[in-house]
Amino acid sequence: MEIQVVSGDVTFVQCDALIVNLFEGVQEPGGATGAIDRALDGQIGALIRAGEIKGKVAETTVIHCHGRLPAERVIVAGLGRREDFSLEVTHKAAGAAARTATRKGCRRLASILHGAGAGMLDAGRAAQAVVEGVAIGVFDVGAYKTADREPSDVETLTLIESDASKARQARAGVKVGEITAEATNYARKLVNEPANELSPEGFAQEARRVAEEQGLECAVLGPKELEKQGFGGIMAVGKGSARPPQLITLRYSPRKRGPTLAFIGKGVMFDSGGISLKPSENMELMKGDMAGAAAVLAAIEALSKLKAKVNIMGVIPAVENLPSGSATRPGDVAKMYGGKTVEIVNTDAEGRLILADALAYAREQGATHMVDVATLTAAVVIALGRLTYGVLGNDEELVKRVKDAAAAAGEKAWELPLFPEYREQIKSPIADIKNTGGRPAGPITAALFLKEFVDGTPWVHLDIAGTYWNESDVSYMPKGPTGSAVRTLIELARWFGE
Ligand code: BES
Ligand code: MN
Ligand code: ZN
Repeated sequence: MEIQVVSGDVTFVQCDALIVNLFEGVQEPGGATGAIDRALDGQIGALIRAGEIKGKVAETTVIHCHGRLPAERVIVAGLGRREDFSLEVTHKAAGAAARTATRKGCRRLASILHGAGAGMLDAGRAAQAVVEGVAIGVFDVGAYKTADREPSDVETLTLIESDASKARQARAGVKVGEITAEATNYARKLVNEPANELSPEGFAQEARRVAEEQGLECAVLGPKELEKQGFGGIMAVGKGSARPPQLITLRYSPRKRGPTLAFIGKGVMFDSGGISLKPSENMELMKGDMAGAAAVLAAIEALSKLKAKVNIMGVIPAVENLPSGSATRPGDVAKMYGGKTVEIVNTDAEGRLILADALAYAREQGATHMVDVATLTAAVVIALGRLTYGVLGNDEELVKRVKDAAAAAGEKAWELPLFPEYREQIKSPIADIKNTGGRPAGPITAALFLKEFVDGTPWVHLDIAGTYWNESDVSYMPKGPTGSAVRTLIELARWFGE
């Protein structure tokens, strides 16, 4: 997709679809939408009066121009009520309009910057959000279809801003938006990939390719090294599969000193539950149990492209959780990296086992701040549903920064408490702790388990089990993988570099 910002008059733009907008309740469109309405002999106003255009968030209405404008069509995207407007509305409106346009075969799109008028949003932010909404909205989940693929590619996107100084701001926003949207879509592509196509070794290969392209350091430990160096959590989970576990470490180090922000991503290429086998309903979605790993890899690639000024470490334990004659049994005790012991009472609570090793390793490797991302618990889906991911951490300031980064990136995040009293639930009679705390407070006891391995380093855990996959279209995100947490990680790291 080629993107340009032009500072000029919307009525001169040539394209297949020109996207303008409307707030709910507006009877007479103003600004750019008003200019288009006049060129179209008042058709938009007439549709509003007829009740066909209401301006609800992400509502789209297509009007053909029949030569009245150089644009083939106009799409009016609803922005909802003016008082409820936010950056996320820009994402939703842009994504919905782009999806409507591409379904009709439009390839050359143009759009005004939803929200940049009337001083609501900074033009750079608005441009970033429009680019993200469009690029994320048209993602195609049918990678393996050989027929009936939905048309989805946009050739050109022209952003129109009449004010020249705002157009300059918009250009900077476009670049950030392109990179963050690409990263989001890259993570989605990895999550969408079936497990037969993406093994732990395949993921490591993918990380090596990214590292080579971006000039990052990349080191991968295979099963022999993992065994020898005592990564008992990763080995316990990986040993049921014929495809061996890997521990991937990436480093982007633009600075000589300063903090090292580590991103740790759960990379379970497929989670069958192991001997504690999952029910078969929806088990296919467990190909996406590496969404945390995908988010980490994608975010690091983006931060390198953005030349962020902060040292980043990525640590990705990549495994496959399968039952077999060599698999871990319930009741087995694992000796974790760093020496703590864990009674594995449920082999389906595997994510925390591999993350525990990875957190301890990241800290040893010099991480000063750690953020892990994981599709960790079914319980977080019950608590927060599919719109919001869970945030838990041991450091108030880092937790706040993560929540603020999520808000700025247009992702929904909500904190759950890490009260120490819950630790009772993971006490084990035989080992230091056990790997599940039962059903009550599932996301909390899972995070408390992880906390045992961070040893006081400022750390935040993101439980994206509810948000990594959309079960149906949700505004600008079509059904399928979402790239959850990618944009939060990018935003957070850029702040660290400021
Ligand atoms: N990968 C799952 C969690 C999950 C569930 C992610 C649904 C996405 C959608 C995780 O490994 C798991 O199985 N967790 C168990 C833990 C339990 C056994 C303590 C769970 O949440 O049921
Ligand atoms: Mn599991
Ligand atoms: Zn899992």
